[in-house]
Amino acid sequence: MAATIISVNSPADFHVHLRQGSMAALVTPHVRKGGFKLAYVMPNLKPPIATAAQALEYKRELQKIDPNVEYVMTLYLSPDLTPEEIFKAKNAGVVGVKSYPRGVTTNSEGGIESYETYYPIFKAMQEVDMVLNLHGEIPSDASANVHVLNAEPRFLPHLFKIHATFPSLRIVLEHATTRAAVEAVKSCGPSVACTITAHHLDLTVDDWAGQSWNFCKPVAKYPDDRQALRDVIAEGHPRFFLGSDSAPHPPHAKSTSTPSHGCAAGIYTSPILLPLVAHILESFGALDKLDGFASGFGRSFYKQPINANSHSKVSLRRSPGGKSVDSEYVLGNDTLVPFWAGKEIGWEIVE
Ligand code: NCD
Ligand code: DOR
Ligand code: ZN
Ligand code: ZN
Repeated sequence: MAATIISVNSPADFHVHLRQGSMAALVTPHVRKGGFKLAYVMPNLKPPIATAAQALEYKRELQKIDPNVEYVMTLYLSPDLTPEEIFKAKNAGVVGVKSYPRGVTTNSEGGIESYETYYPIFKAMQEVDMVLNLHGEIPSDASANVHVLNAEPRFLPHLFKIHATFPSLRIVLEHATTRAAVEAVKSCGPSVACTITAHHLDLTVDDWAGQSWNFCKPVAKYPDDRQALRDVIAEGHPRFFLGSDSAPHPPHAKSTSTPSHGCAAGIYTSPILLPLVAHILESFGALDKLDGFASGFGRSFYKQPINANSHSKVSLRRSPGGKSVDSEYVLGNDTLVPFWAGKEIGWEIVE
């Protein structure tokens, strides 16, 4: 008979959006609610986290909301960033720098245009062993036939070039969605890894076309692409691990009610994350890879061992008949609707 209890050692989410202000107050406690002990925190706030001092201040704000999670901080790559700031950030314990191509997703108006411009930054990062987090899409461009479905494959030459130029710079291709991206990362050296979200293991294009709650960037691709994401996890490849890209937006921003403004990109998975990942991995026969995918592989690549403070096993038990996902979460004036709202998940956290 299949196991009824499974455990993960100190689950770690290597890509999450915790926002700021009242939204941060609502979503930050959901990291632990979803079973996670470590959050690798994205810097795309308004304004973005651009300096070591801002990263530390943001970390303190998150710790005030929930001190029982380890927050690993990042900076936003922009022309304002300097090698000096990289050295300061390293000393402040900041681990990574996230690059967003200009205009591709939420709060990316200030993102990058050309990667060569940033070579002095990458050189400094390589020197001090910081991690470059790549949002691997190029901006849509009708004249070059670039669109949401090929924006990731078309980005891959940039990954190869940065990796070839800075072979020991640790690079994470974030939220991969295509077979091409999986193959590209596999073909790179040990300094290149890849995060995969829970939702991209579930969705394909048919699920977000006309369904704004399932819309995120990068968009979910074809069934064959999803199969490649599933296969690389089932194979237990240690350079592919969980980064939820849990990205909350209020219901009005997810709606498409104004013709001039499309819906916000982002899917909210934090509060249900570990049970969801267990459920989805089990659906394609990879439940035995849960510990590596949701903790060990990422911790090892990021050199974030389980420490005395964060050490703890999180156990899941099979919920007979399934446990229904909450339809919404509310705090004060803020409301959020999670991924799979109202659907049944076959696992629940043992409190
Ligand atoms: C192709 C490309 O890269 O341009 N698309 C793809 O890989 N999804 C061709 C196309 O977009 O028509
Ligand atoms: O869907 C997304 N939402 N993709 C991103 O890269 C950013 C994120 C957000 O911040 O909302
Ligand atoms: Zn991204
Ligand atoms: Zn993200």
